[in-house]
Amino acid sequence: MDATNLRIPGPTPLPPAVLRAMQRAMIPHRGSEFRAFFRGLLEQVRQVHRTEGDVIILPGSGSAGWEAAIVNTLSPGDTVLAVVTGDFGVRFARVAERFGLRVERVEVPWGRAATADVVRAALERHPETRAVLYTYNETSTGVANPLAEVGPVVRAHGALLLVDGVSAVAGLPLEMDGWGVDLVLSGSQKAWMCPPGLVIIAAGPRVWESYERASFPRFFWDLGDARRAAAEGNTPTTAPLTLLYALKAACDLIEAEGLEAVYARHRRIGDLTRRRVQEIGYRLFADPAYASDTVTAAVPPEGVAVRDVVARMRQEHGITIADGQGPIKDRIIRIGHMGWVHEPEIERTLAALDAVTNSLAAK
Ligand SMILES: Cc1ncc(COP(=O)(O)O)c(C=O)c1O
Repeated sequence: MDATNLRIPGPTPLPPAVLRAMQRAMIPHRGSEFRAFFRGLLEQVRQVHRTEGDVIILPGSGSAGWEAAIVNTLSPGDTVLAVVTGDFGVRFARVAERFGLRVERVEVPWGRAATADVVRAALERHPETRAVLYTYNETSTGVANPLAEVGPVVRAHGALLLVDGVSAVAGLPLEMDGWGVDLVLSGSQKAWMCPPGLVIIAAGPRVWESYERASFPRFFWDLGDARRAAAEGNTPTTAPLTLLYALKAACDLIEAEGLEAVYARHRRIGDLTRRRVQEIGYRLFADPAYASDTVTAAVPPEGVAVRDVVARMRQEHGITIADGQGPIKDRIIRIGHMGWVHEPEIERTLAALDAVTNSLAAK
């Protein structure tokens, strides 16, 4: 399959430079060459988060980030506010429940955003909240929640703001320190343009204060151990060298393009996708005011089945798009446009969608 025909919301296509980087030979992960390399990489990743805080990179996936965020900052019985705007918000809440936290869910209808007012009102109802679990970009609905507005609200209350940035970081604007975000977790397989396999966590000073008090047992996901190792350019366990090489190549690409240009490209492609899917006859699933620039979710025209669109896109055009997740599995298609994505391949995807939808509608 042509890599650029993978138009699901992660894993995403890999740039040639990332593919090449993964062919590098192994080096000793406790040697000086590795330490210099890893220090440089952490600095590049830190800059993407716009934080003076720490960056931790561990083998894992986005879900590991949920667990790490919880066990390093909270204790059994603490109250957390889980802001749920879709399937990933549900899962983040479930992780908190499994760990025995008191989880207050704030449910927003899927397709809508969790605004600052929603979060403020919930914090007023639950002043005992120790942490807010918030999904910046809800991959299941194509909604980019307004993190920039929510950050100051949570900071004013005093709770920690633990953010799932899995399908946002390196694709959507992020000012971690400027917005008052305490922790952001993401996975390498999304806008980072890397294969699945790394969890990337940025943590500010309030995380480390909470870490001292947090009483959950932790070993592999102990961010304090990872932080101490990182200060020396080390990792707590054997470093996933190949994936780190990939991430370095991806960070070099982001640096060469410039973060603002990366965000502008995502915005342009998000706009283009939304405009074209509507012209083809789809309805945006997300509230247009909060539609994501990394993934578009859309409801097909009357009489056109999601299952058929996805199958025909693959069979007739070799392009893989996604259906929905959970309760909206059969209601929406999703087109991923994060990371290594440019106009030509999105134009190709949309032309194919037009052809497939027309032929299905004509039946
Ligand atoms: C917003 C969001 N959070 C968390 C996850 C879970 O990440 P993983 O499957 O890498 O564990 C995903 C995966 O798609 C996601 O999109």
